Amino acid sequence: MNRSSIQRIFLEAKASLELARTDAPIFLDVLNFMKTQNFSAENISEIHGRVPAHKELLRSAISKVPDNPFLNLKSALLAGYEHLHWRVDDSGFYAKGADVGHGYRSGNMHALLIGPEDCPFQADDFLLGFFLLAPNTLYRDHNHLAPEIYIPLTGPSGWRFEQGAWEDHFPGEMIYNAPGVVHATRVYETPFFALFAWSQDVESACNVVFADDWESIETELLR
Ligand SMILES: [Fe+2]
Repeated sequence: MNRSSIQRIFLEAKASLELARTDAPIFLDVLNFMKTQNFSAENISEIHGRVPAHKELLRSAISKVPDNPFLNLKSALLAGYEHLHWRVDDSGFYAKGADVGHGYRSGNMHALLIGPEDCPFQADDFLLGFFLLAPNTLYRDHNHLAPEIYIPLTGPSGWRFEQGAWEDHFPGEMIYNAPGVVHATRVYETPFFALFAWSQDVESACNVVFADDWESIETELLR
């Protein structure tokens, strides 16, 4: 484990969060929580860096993070991403067995910076990490009790809420998913790579909310 690499990634992730800050109350929760932590290198828990899959995709996604305004975070990640413990969600850590689509199941990966176990900083009911989704993927409509924010570091990516109209979001444009709000993401040709946080209820289940256009969207994305 390389504590200084992990600490550098962590501090740059925190700086990027502060950069993307909006008036959404969840930002206060996230930033206030983070103020309570001691993020010194010696406080980092022992973890084993691991990239179990999608290594080329991950490198490619990080290399597509724009220098402005994320140069420091991008550099820290390029230098140290292998020291983080990356996981593929095939058993339902987030989706809890819900079918959020084949594209998601075959093309996702995440690494936690703060969370309940096997990550640099421990917290029982809070998550902060990075999330990767392969190009041309639909992450189907779903909701959960956990309040969630994404800071996309690549893009654009498409989002819809409560199965309304799709809207593109660009790097640095925060997405807030309030508890229970149905959301879906479509990833175009650029892999989706983002910082994300869940400010509470991290054990809450993911509920998939059926929409009759999934198949046509998936076909269109793969065209
Ligand atoms: Fe979500």
